[in-house]
Amino acid sequence: MTKHALITGGNRGIGRAFVEHYLKAGWNVTACCRDPKRAVELSVLKSDYEQLKVMSLDVSLSESIAILTKELAGTPIDLLINNAGYYGPKGVEFGSCDAKEWGKVIEVNTIAPLMLTEALYQNLKLVGNPVVAFISSKVGSMEDNTSGGGYYYRSSKAALNSVVKSLSIDLKDDGIKCVALHPGWVLTAMGGPKALIDTDMSVKGMMAVIGKLTWEQSGDFYDYQGKPIPW
Ligand SMILES: NC(=O)c1ccc[n+]([C@@H]2O[C@H](COP(=O)([O-])OP(=O)(O)OC[C@H]3O[C@@H](n4cnc5c(N)ncnc54)[C@H](OP(=O)(O)O)[C@@H]3O)[C@@H](O)[C@H]2O)c1
Repeated sequence: MTKHALITGGNRGIGRAFVEHYLKAGWNVTACCRDPKRAVELSVLKSDYEQLKVMSLDVSLSESIAILTKELAGTPIDLLINNAGYYGPKGVEFGSCDAKEWGKVIEVNTIAPLMLTEALYQNLKLVGNPVVAFISSKVGSMEDNTSGGGYYYRSSKAALNSVVKSLSIDLKDDGIKCVALHPGWVLTAMGGPKALIDTDMSVKGMMAVIGKLTWEQSGDFYDYQGKPIPW
């Protein structure tokens, strides 16, 4: 049976590349984004691939998750990619942190991936070898942190890694594998123009990691080349 991937933040950057590459690989793809009407690149892809479905989802709104879950009731999902992410305001240093702004970053990067995984749990249980991939970041690694700062984003991804570890334990008996992935430093709006790799290289690498994921690797943290990243 044709496999089905659901990808959040599918309208641009790494998410859009995931959408295109899974379509090319013959999968059914549900690309979620906040505003499907303005998702021009997804409309273009839709004219080439009838197996693409575009759905509205703001990952930080529980009502939006509830509507999506209702519409997808009974639909098997082989792969959920929690990709949507938010860096928050840049240049925030010690002494200028704002709790409300921090909360917004945590909502999108840490809380939403868990809430969506809970919401789509029944869909994941309908398939043989389900995987939930969480797009994290190496800057959430304690060992990698030699420059300080980045309080909002670093902490949100470090906490996400903790969520992934617990989920890998809690969902093992359901046969659901989980993995945290660092996409590399990627040329997107978030990665900026100095980034080192394009979205194609990043996504092809992460797809290979996801495709070969073993039970021993569930709950771990890898980069797009399959290299383990220390917590
Ligand atoms: N680029 C890098 O170098 C890099 C490195 C490490 C990790 N990452 C991670 O990779 C993932 C993708 O990043 P990217 O580089 O592709 O970033 P991007 O180009 O800035 O795209 C971010 C995506 O997330 C979506 N998003 C943000 N808040 C959302 C919300 N509340 N609900 C639904 N969607 C939301 C955006 O949708 P809108 O278009 O509606 O804003 C957009 O589709 C993120 O998790 C990021 O943290 C990126």
